[in-house]
Amino acid sequence: MRARLPYLASLGVDAVWLSPIHPSPNVDWGYDVADYLDVHDDYGSLADADALIADARRLGLDVWLDLVPNHTSDRHPWFADRPEYYVWSDQVPNDWRSIFTGGSAWNWDARRKRYYLHQFAPQQPDLDWWSPDVREEFDRILRFWFDRGIRGVRIDVAHGIVKDRELRDGIEHMRNRPEVHDVFARWQRVASEYDPKPTLMGETYVSLDQMYGYWRHLDLVQNFAFVRAEFELEELRPIVEQTMAHLPPGRRPCWFGSNHDHSRMATRWAGGDEAVHRAALFLILTLPGVAILYQGDELGLEDGVVPPERILDLADPPRDPERTPLPWTRSGEEWRDPWLPLDNTERNVEGQEGDADSILEYTRGLLRERARFTDDGYRTLPSATGVWAYARGGRTCVLNLTEDVAGHEGLVLQPWEGRII
Ligand code: GLC
Repeated sequence: MRARLPYLASLGVDAVWLSPIHPSPNVDWGYDVADYLDVHDDYGSLADADALIADARRLGLDVWLDLVPNHTSDRHPWFADRPEYYVWSDQVPNDWRSIFTGGSAWNWDARRKRYYLHQFAPQQPDLDWWSPDVREEFDRILRFWFDRGIRGVRIDVAHGIVKDRELRDGIEHMRNRPEVHDVFARWQRVASEYDPKPTLMGETYVSLDQMYGYWRHLDLVQNFAFVRAEFELEELRPIVEQTMAHLPPGRRPCWFGSNHDHSRMATRWAGGDEAVHRAALFLILTLPGVAILYQGDELGLEDGVVPPERILDLADPPRDPERTPLPWTRSGEEWRDPWLPLDNTERNVEGQEGDADSILEYTRGLLRERARFTDDGYRTLPSATGVWAYARGGRTCVLNLTEDVAGHEGLVLQPWEGRII
């Protein structure tokens, strides 16, 4: 990673968000943390993390971590030594279901002779966020990493960490509880001890209406209505307009088209079509606020093909296709023993670097333009059917979201073409 930091800097991004880096049995790709205060052997040591943060800093990049506060691994020492940190019940108390198994979210623990809650896999017991001790542990975890120079966290399952205290029936009592905001307010106080204040970004996997409340205490609220929409003007524009209409002063919206849980946008949105993928990059990188690119988006990387015997993920459908490695070269030889197969290296860094017509250079160009925008506002402008025009950054952005040539105020737009004028 340290060797690849100059590449990230040359893209023109500000920060890199790492998927969980901690020791983990990897039942859920690191989202089952066995020690929040260390680094998984596969990646290196704490000293390596420090060196990474220092190298990144020299290149003007911030490093963000993935904070997993909803649950730990069942191998975390807390599960044996501090059972009171978890959510228990003598009987199955309600109808809550596990997102991964589809069955009851309660699992019998033979040692304690009680049921424990697991919103995800049985190997991921949920922490009890009503426990003051759990809150203090996470204050310590945040300070541990902020002290090391981590400048932001992506909060896993941000909407789901506090459960109804009475464990009442109904999904609305398992997730998106109003009390969750007290936790974020508390973390803002921890973050405020640092200068610059690290950013708190929530994985707020909720509907648009439910999303707005998270701006109270989170700096960034990931917009899942946007990522889940079809890549169509009629779907995306209202989401952007409503998001901007509800944005409180001082907050910024946050857009992305791919992540480790969703089919990559080059496949899901563009179906492999390069022109459509460029349109998606154009949109994400010209909207106001913060844009997140998932590794490979800048190359037009599609989902990988993972044969059944190589599937690692426990979710159905498995998320392995969007988790395959990024090809740096045409041969892919830099990946000697990757965790998932690299089946297609056609779109790779080496092949696109320096080629003015490549998706990579297109992405770089957009990031350069973006840096020159003068404000972070957004206003929809009148346009022809299928064309999205908006005022942004002192400029006008026009994007043709159709398969036909279209026009905008005398300008001829090729199918899927975006222009900043
Ligand atoms: C989040 C992560 C996902 C993980 C789940 C459980 O949704 O993005 O990858 O499986 O939380 O931790």
